Amino acid sequence: MKKGSKIFNVLGLMLMSTLIVSCNENISNNKNDEIKIGITLYRQDDTFISSISSNLEEISKENGDNFNKNIVLEFVDAKASTINQGNQVDKFIKQDYDVICVNLVDRTAAATIIDKAKSANIPVIFFNREPVEEDMNRWDKIYYVGAQAEQSARLQADIVAEEWLSNKNYYDKNKDGKIQYVMIEGEPGHQDTLIRTEYCIKALNEMGFQLEKLADDTANWQSDQANSKMNQWIKEFGDDIEVVFSNNDVMALGAIYAINSNSNIIRKPIVVGVDGIKEAIESIKIRDMTGTVISDANAQAQAIWDIAINLANGISLEDVIGSEREKYKKIPHTKVTIDNINELSNE
Ligand code: GAL
Ligand code: CA
Repeated sequence: MKKGSKIFNVLGLMLMSTLIVSCNENISNNKNDEIKIGITLYRQDDTFISSISSNLEEISKENGDNFNKNIVLEFVDAKASTINQGNQVDKFIKQDYDVICVNLVDRTAAATIIDKAKSANIPVIFFNREPVEEDMNRWDKIYYVGAQAEQSARLQADIVAEEWLSNKNYYDKNKDGKIQYVMIEGEPGHQDTLIRTEYCIKALNEMGFQLEKLADDTANWQSDQANSKMNQWIKEFGDDIEVVFSNNDVMALGAIYAINSNSNIIRKPIVVGVDGIKEAIESIKIRDMTGTVISDANAQAQAIWDIAINLANGISLEDVIGSEREKYKKIPHTKVTIDNINELSNE
């Protein structure tokens, strides 16, 4: 039975890869007629990551015809396992892919992938989960596409400051002039977790606000974990929570769900997230979430595409990343609150 399911998996994989082949139906075995881009995702079920991949597929559909070559985009899901991801990269190398795009499971473990790719001379574009600088310096054909984490934190701070000042009597529940807050963090060690957590508080301090942390903990980018943390904190602090900072939107939504279903909350706190996913925009419209900061999945996908296509065609990267020697492309953010939501949704 085991053997049977293996065969089924192999067949399933073959079918999947065939479906993803874009452009021309006549796949040629001649490598020069084909560009193969392999993409391994840390978890395909992550909302923001799946939005990067659907944008990439869309871009490939729209632009694939501009080249006289078949463009193959193959997405694989590492399911949060470094071992899976290593095997997926091995497979891309063995099958002579032109470019490998890696959304690392463990951002501190890029070295093995880089070294293997280097010996096969296949460039690597890391995205969303940034390798440490030492690893980025292991070879010159590696790139990173991501967002400007410090800016997202500072924009979150702006949203909190504006909302707080617009109705200080309401939000400063205990009238001590300070902001009592809880912080819901993403995965430990992720650059966006570390930077967003630090800089939203730093930015508010720089603006002259005094803050008091009631609690902080990781919810690993996940809504259900954030929901149970928030329920626990509401039990512990009752209605004393004045602001909820969340490193991303799905966790903010989990917290909002806890706030809305808890009768201990009399005045709703300010809640801010990051990413700008559809559900967060809806939540802002009904004034549940105070605001979010858009991480532009489309612009990030476009950067990955541009770098990959240029590398595969031997075209200079200067137009995409500024200079030939640059390795980083970090996309800026936009903040969203009830004040500008209509302009953005009409775009
Ligand atoms: C962050 C994003 C999170 C999650 C994470 C995955 O940039 O805000 O929602 O997708 O990346 O690495
Ligand atoms: Ca207070």
